[in-house]
Amino acid sequence: MLVKNPLKRGIREFLFLSIVIVLFGCQPDKKIEAEMKSDYQYNYKQWSEYLGGPDRNHYSELDQITKANVKQLEIAWTYTTPDIGQMQMNPIIIDTILYGISAGLKVFALNAESGKEVWLYGDSKNARHNTSRGVSYWTDGKDKRIFFTKDSMLIALNALNGKPVESFGDKGKVDLHKGLPASAKGKYIASTTPGTIFEDLIIMPVRVSEGSDAAPGNLRAFNVRTGELVWTFHTIPHPGELGYETWENEKAYQNTEVGGVNNWAGMAVDKRSGILFVPLGSAAPDFYGGRRLGDNLFANCLLALNARTGERIWHFQTVHHDLWDRDLPAPPNLIKVMREGKEIEAVAQVTKQGYVFVFERTTGKPLFEIEESIVPPSTLDGEVASKTQPIPVLPRPFARQINELSTDDINPYSKNRKELLEKLKSYNKTLLQPPGINKPNLLLPGYDGGAEWGGAAADPDQGILYVNSNEMAWELLLEPTTNNKYNSSGKALYISNCAACHQKDFTGLPQSGIPSLAKMQEIASRSGMYEVISNGKGMMPGFPQLTKHQKNAILDYLLGLEKQEILATPQAETKVPYRHTGYKKFLDSDGLPAISPPWGTLHAIDLNSGTYKWSIPLGITESIDALGHPPTGTENYGGPLVTENGLLFIAATKDGYIRAFDKDNGKMLWKKKLPAPAFATPAMYSVNGKQFVVVACGGEKLGTVKGNKVVAFALP
Ligand code: HEC
Repeated sequence: MLVKNPLKRGIREFLFLSIVIVLFGCQPDKKIEAEMKSDYQYNYKQWSEYLGGPDRNHYSELDQITKANVKQLEIAWTYTTPDIGQMQMNPIIIDTILYGISAGLKVFALNAESGKEVWLYGDSKNARHNTSRGVSYWTDGKDKRIFFTKDSMLIALNALNGKPVESFGDKGKVDLHKGLPASAKGKYIASTTPGTIFEDLIIMPVRVSEGSDAAPGNLRAFNVRTGELVWTFHTIPHPGELGYETWENEKAYQNTEVGGVNNWAGMAVDKRSGILFVPLGSAAPDFYGGRRLGDNLFANCLLALNARTGERIWHFQTVHHDLWDRDLPAPPNLIKVMREGKEIEAVAQVTKQGYVFVFERTTGKPLFEIEESIVPPSTLDGEVASKTQPIPVLPRPFARQINELSTDDINPYSKNRKELLEKLKSYNKTLLQPPGINKPNLLLPGYDGGAEWGGAAADPDQGILYVNSNEMAWELLLEPTTNNKYNSSGKALYISNCAACHQKDFTGLPQSGIPSLAKMQEIASRSGMYEVISNGKGMMPGFPQLTKHQKNAILDYLLGLEKQEILATPQAETKVPYRHTGYKKFLDSDGLPAISPPWGTLHAIDLNSGTYKWSIPLGITESIDALGHPPTGTENYGGPLVTENGLLFIAATKDGYIRAFDKDNGKMLWKKKLPAPAFATPAMYSVNGKQFVVVACGGEKLGTVKGNKVVAFALP
């Protein structure tokens, strides 16, 4: 068994007092006013929404491909996307057309049977290599629209010809700054996950900065016909709103020192009851909370809203006063579970920490006990960590927890085991230890989880959840920001805005996918770099909030041209006394994880009982596999897909395979090497009597080859 009891070692030491909470913060305020549509039934033979359907279960009832014939799957068609690089996209299929989006944010419509392009939208002059997990579709029967985002723009296209819908917003576009307070003007906003369609609304996820310059993450619903703003929910409550008292700083809701609390991972919606389920991210700045003391509602909450009005129904906070960037990383799954012989409509939320929280859908009542466990205090001036954090008693975590690592848990295949062992000893390895400035914490599960944006698949009526997970340990260390002398210089701006990723000496963290900027003058144009700073690239956020002057000061510093006196407005950094020192993985000299395998896993969890049906390592490390060792599992991004008739498909692994498993026992039934790793969730559909499974192969992440193919498989 891969998953050990999380409560056995370190945490038990802190459990001298453990409060069992029932209904903590989850009582519904008012009777659900949403109108019930009891006749609504999703058709699981289609894949017309992100992750399959509004319940985000990655689930299909198509049954031509079976356990018996899955071995015969072969490539039915391949589409070459107009640009190359990482694609996290989950395509949707409407009638006989497949819609997707490329690495450079060009939208394509393909004949889903042949893979031939029907139309392509996007101009090459303004290509943007930013993350997009797909597009949304809306129709009233006559009008058919595709929605996608580029930079801060939500764009509506005619689904039939790919032309912008001029009557939507401003000639087809709505700027996602719309409806945010004036403080958000000019701040970075993008959207990486498709909006959720409910009736005539599109409810939008947004990505914002993770520093003190972050825009607020207010949830907003827009009219799909006109682009008008219909409702807003303040994720950082204003005076008089519930949760306002959980922020001990007036400036939080005013968005002058604090921001974030955004939904970036997408949402699920129960179309029968009209309840929208929103997993929320952390408050910004991420790792230092001295300017946002208190529990910080609705950060890190699963929030249930009336989808028509945006009114709150219930919420549950999964991390109080987050200091670890524990955003809720994926939409929840809407499923049914059995309790004492009765069927209960439930909502299950996976987390980066490797927990699954399961609630009754309409009331928010937890379906397994959740313990408020005592956790360690902060060692930093001005910081007050929450005394307790919620930990579900069942199911046990699906990812190894830091306090379970023993000294044996060093990569057994590594050349430098001795050194790694010493290093392992030097870290703070307490569960939910707040970050400090002297001793680095080892963060396991790492910054990306545990569960990540790929999320979980589920059998909606059986209550079985299928989730893949990473087991990568990362360092977490802060440092004081005392260097105020340089505050307006290019150097100071670089250190406060860029160095956590690209490092103070420009070398980047190639193992974490962050390029070196050391030789930029030789390989990039100044205008190209200016563009990247303004709009971001791939997983790098843009910095539109920096003035022209500031961007040029950073570029001068980067290119070794910095002059002595550069005037610029003082940076946000002055407000934050500590900064993050960098997203470093704990690796060996060959770039393999320093901790013992498995490094990536796949699990089937029975949410009726809270027990595991099976757990397996997911993926192989070819160099170790070649020596005849068991599968190590690999880091993996992108989720699984399950079928009613017993199959589970998943790509996601660094080794570049797509695999099919028997969903009942985790036995591998088929695998196929892809043209580039698919860090994306597959989709399933049927056209003219033929069943297809399709996945986007963009590679690039985790230092893998770049790709530009969408590959569809079918039986011969
Ligand atoms: C959160 C981490 C992060 C931060 C903060 C960040 N970057 Fe990046 N940066 C990246 C990543 C990841 C890439 C690679 C993007 C890709 O190619 O997909 C990148 C790419 C770049 C590139 C392009 C390099 C190339 O080879 O094309 C430049 C230039 C750059 N960053 C400059 C900056 C500057 C200047 C700042 C501060 C204003 C900054 N970055 C802040 C993560 C970051």
